[in-house]
Amino acid sequence: MTDRKATLSVGDKTIELPVYSGTVGPDVIDVRGLVQEGVFTYDPGFVSTAACESAITYIDGANGVLLHRGYPIEQLAEHSDYLEVCYLLLNGELPSPEENKRFHETIKNHTMLHDQMRNFFHGFRRDAHPMAIMCGVVGALSAFYHDQMDVTDEKQRQITAHRLIAKMPTIAAWCYKYSIGQPFMYPRNDLSYSENFLHMMFGVPCEEYKPNPVLAKAMDKIFILHADHEQNASTSTVRLAGSTGANPYACIASGIAALWGPAHGGANEAVLDMLAEIGDESNIEKYIEKAKDKDDPFRLMGFGHRVYKNFDPRAKVMRETAHEVLRELGLENDPLLKIAQRLEKIALEDEYFVERKLYPNVDFYSGIILKAIGIPTSMFTVIFAMSRTIGWFSHWNEMVSGNYRIGRPRQLYTGPTKRDYPVK
Ligand code: SDX
Repeated sequence: MTDRKATLSVGDKTIELPVYSGTVGPDVIDVRGLVQEGVFTYDPGFVSTAACESAITYIDGANGVLLHRGYPIEQLAEHSDYLEVCYLLLNGELPSPEENKRFHETIKNHTMLHDQMRNFFHGFRRDAHPMAIMCGVVGALSAFYHDQMDVTDEKQRQITAHRLIAKMPTIAAWCYKYSIGQPFMYPRNDLSYSENFLHMMFGVPCEEYKPNPVLAKAMDKIFILHADHEQNASTSTVRLAGSTGANPYACIASGIAALWGPAHGGANEAVLDMLAEIGDESNIEKYIEKAKDKDDPFRLMGFGHRVYKNFDPRAKVMRETAHEVLRELGLENDPLLKIAQRLEKIALEDEYFVERKLYPNVDFYSGIILKAIGIPTSMFTVIFAMSRTIGWFSHWNEMVSGNYRIGRPRQLYTGPTKRDYPVK
């Protein structure tokens, strides 16, 4: 791959390490040989660690750039739809019109769940968090397709991708229906992917549901904006689980579990809870001070990002979509939007946030859109998980279809050295 070297001096040793370049982005230093020299690298949180090679998504955090297989997220959000982006992430190229039509048809034919799966929902309390239900039900999918989970078989990986893309909206909507005691709505093949999701969320058997095209387009944009994001915490979890040879449904369930945390995918739910807690524009300064206080665990949810040290390009598209949806619904004076806009303005002028390059991220505005559409905050991360399933699967697929080893990090041990058990 390279004849370029990095030189490392450790004690009286000088170690030469290979340096590799990608097509774009920072070079990497191959440190795999260090274990033979009796030293490890140390990088809790993986701030400076490239855990793998990938060709799916590129992020330039300093310049607010996000590319999916080379295409800028702004252009995909403007001109594509979620299923076409799924095809792109999975296969590496945009589909031809014929391939796109066939892909849309294929997904439509896999949206139903095995009827036995209804029983999994009924095992949960009605007030169970929908993410708890989604974790359980998606993991349980492996029990229904155990004869088609040979990770070395490309055809079986492809059918699994189609099943997951198609079934996640059904599972997500059923999580919601179960929590409000309404009957499950079956998918309809005459609706688009996002229209179908809104139908399964808000339709009832007593009357035909007519999806609002503006809301359906907003949902599709939200799906696109959350589809993939390089080696984030949940995607890295999926890759690590997959490196053991675990089946794809179990790996996706591990990604759902990791996404649930408020520092990651749970932030969209936490943003709405934060805006509600702030309650009024007059309280904003108090909460900005809380966010800056090291002794206060409060953080400005929806702000900051490990990689973006400039605007999250998804947040810009999300902000425009928020205005479109609120205008369509006659909610331009939504008090939460007012608080969010004022909070954003103050934070972007405050030295603490400017110095630390803390900008709004993808989660800051998405919750305002989802709430306006009528989706409860407990469902926000479920929707994030539904959208991100294609990203998780694409990374899992990229790994298992190539050469890979089981992921097994080491540690800096600071516990007790050997001591004998006090025999009485
Ligand atoms: C997602 O990785 C991805 O790609 C994730 C994601 C994806 O699509 O997969 O983009 C989705 O998870 C977006 C992030 C959603 N999370 C939130 O909005 C929660 C609030 N944000 C923070 O928890 C935080 O910013 C993180 C978790 C997003 C990033 O954490 P880092 O990179 O570990 O940054 P850090 O905690 O080291 O913070 C650096 C400094 C610290 O202050 P100092 O110690 O330098 O004085 O910035 C401060 C932090 O205290 N800081 C914040 C803050 N975020 C960071 N202070 C107040 N409010 C915040 N939100």
